Amino acid sequence: MSLLKIISLTAGYGKNIVITNIFVNVNEGEIVAILGPNGSGKSTLLKSVMGITKVFSGKIFFKDVDLTPLSVDRRARVGIGYVPQLDNVFTELSVEENLEMGAYTRPKREEVRLDIEDIYSLFPSLRGKRKRKAKTLSGGERQMLAIARALMAKPKLLILDEPTSSLAPNMVSTLVSKIKEVNSRGVSVLMAEQNVKVALEIADRVYIMRSGRVIFEGPSNSLTGAMIGDLFLTKRATQRTDPEEG
Ligand SMILES: Nc1ncnc2c1ncn2[C@@H]1O[C@H](COP(=O)(O)OP(=O)(O)OP(=O)(O)O)[C@@H](O)[C@H]1O
Ligand SMILES: [Mg+2]
Repeated sequence: MSLLKIISLTAGYGKNIVITNIFVNVNEGEIVAILGPNGSGKSTLLKSVMGITKVFSGKIFFKDVDLTPLSVDRRARVGIGYVPQLDNVFTELSVEENLEMGAYTRPKREEVRLDIEDIYSLFPSLRGKRKRKAKTLSGGERQMLAIARALMAKPKLLILDEPTSSLAPNMVSTLVSKIKEVNSRGVSVLMAEQNVKVALEIADRVYIMRSGRVIFEGPSNSLTGAMIGDLFLTKRATQRTDPEEG
């Protein structure tokens, strides 16, 4: 069953169109990756789901709910957890305060308490640092905290913007296994990723974007090495600079 359905979305910032005629679908239980070089529009697509871009045309459905007329705040409450690419934790708050902030929409504090314990069992390294300010964490721990905080709102869909970027290789594999574990607990995942290896390892299906358009869509195992090389070798030359183009 379709959880998120993006239909013919054209969006950008101010008067500038950045992504054009995008169709993306995330089914219940899936991990879907959006691949593409710098500036291809991956973050813009994810931000559009959360309502923080200018949508020119198209529709975004979460289950049966049309998100397009909803405010940013309402979207955060329909069951979508969003972890932005940057500034995704409250650095001056402790680990545990960050988790509590993630549950601000939930009235039942007793349940929230239990969920924080549950989160610590999923991310044991956070338990020992519960009183530490988030700014003292390593890059990988911060990323785990950002995901953990999003999970505190009990989302059905988790949107992750390049969760593995700038992490050390061993931390990348830890994070990948954590994302898989979150998914196996029944949370669907839509993630932007620049690391092809990570995307192919983790995702059921991938979309490849270039210059604000989807240029490939299919199961991860349908991407051949030659296609990947072809798509990414020319990325610098095709980097989109003029949003009016096309
Ligand atoms: N807030 C903004 N206002 C205006 N233009 C923006 C804004 N954010 C991004 N852009 C432009 O939109 C285009 C696509 O950017 P976007 O961040 O979506 O790409 P991306 O695929 O996520 O890249 P990266 O891999 O570097 O994160 C770029 O040309 C960028 O300059
Ligand atoms: Mg981005």
